Amino acid sequence: MNAVTPEPTAPPVAAACDAFARDLLAALATRPRRIAPKYFYDAAGSRLFDRICELPEYYLTRTELTLLQARRTEIAERIGPQAEIIEFGAGSLHKVRLLLAALDGPAAYRPIDISGPFLRDAASALQRDWPHLPVQPIVADYTQALQLPPHRGPGRRLGFFPGSTIGNLAPEAALDFLRRAAAVLRGGALLLGVDLVKDPSVLHAAYNDAEGVTAAFNRNLLVRANRELGADFQPDQFAHSAFYNAPLQRIEMHLMSRRRQQVQVCGERFEFAAGETLHTENSHKYTIEGMQALARRAGFTPLAAWTDANRWFGLHWLQAPAMETSA
Ligand code: TRP
Repeated sequence: MNAVTPEPTAPPVAAACDAFARDLLAALATRPRRIAPKYFYDAAGSRLFDRICELPEYYLTRTELTLLQARRTEIAERIGPQAEIIEFGAGSLHKVRLLLAALDGPAAYRPIDISGPFLRDAASALQRDWPHLPVQPIVADYTQALQLPPHRGPGRRLGFFPGSTIGNLAPEAALDFLRRAAAVLRGGALLLGVDLVKDPSVLHAAYNDAEGVTAAFNRNLLVRANRELGADFQPDQFAHSAFYNAPLQRIEMHLMSRRRQQVQVCGERFEFAAGETLHTENSHKYTIEGMQALARRAGFTPLAAWTDANRWFGLHWLQAPAMETSA
């Protein structure tokens, strides 16, 4: 067993052992140790993530924005007037502004995000800049079943899933997500941003920035556990470890114990051997063809894929299945 019997001095189990506590305890009790990345995104984590997007090494955000900008007219023509936009895992709602500016009279914008207060703040900021656009934030986990309000016409429905967030799902989960997206986007399309397979040194730098922001983002999970759960992690005793796993085509992010140490979470003790890790994130990379094949299996028809001069990032236009005709 991994759990070491608590010593008499161990604090009592925290009263509010919430989902984070349950998932962290479960992660620490299994091997390999792996926790869901959604726990990165408390307020501090969301701010750190915004800083990651600005880093010189983190080419993803910049490259995707350039692609959206370059293809905005084509995108607007493909979806047509009065489209309803559904954004998955919307975050701070920066990228959609470019889209909203380019589209012909969008009918509504519905951002979906798991982080309720963060989403509502971002949605009201957007609403101030687009006073006549119906903005309807939906607080939900888009990796679970998707319950959307009825389609707001008369235009088509456009799904928007930027940031290569789809890469943070395992390929099977990505396929599940795409199948559910295809069902809710019938008659419309999905605009999907995906990081491309490339020279591992470029990938490595993007997740190991010189300033250490990504390391701080990774360790913020431990800082959060200390603050919210009264855990006693020593964040500086865990190294940020991010590397490209070539056979699995993904960046893996881990927190690696610098030495043998014990930690206490909710009154339970766990031991880390030197070099033992807690696996915190995956970021899968796809070729254009690989993502198109996955999309086809989910029922989409890939109609366009745009990429930058370096071929570092891909923006996919995926046509959703036709509306079911009632006859
Ligand atoms: N989807 C992005 C990516 O995989 C964002 C992201 C998720 C990220 N977790 C991260 C970026 C951890 C840096 C570090 O790149």
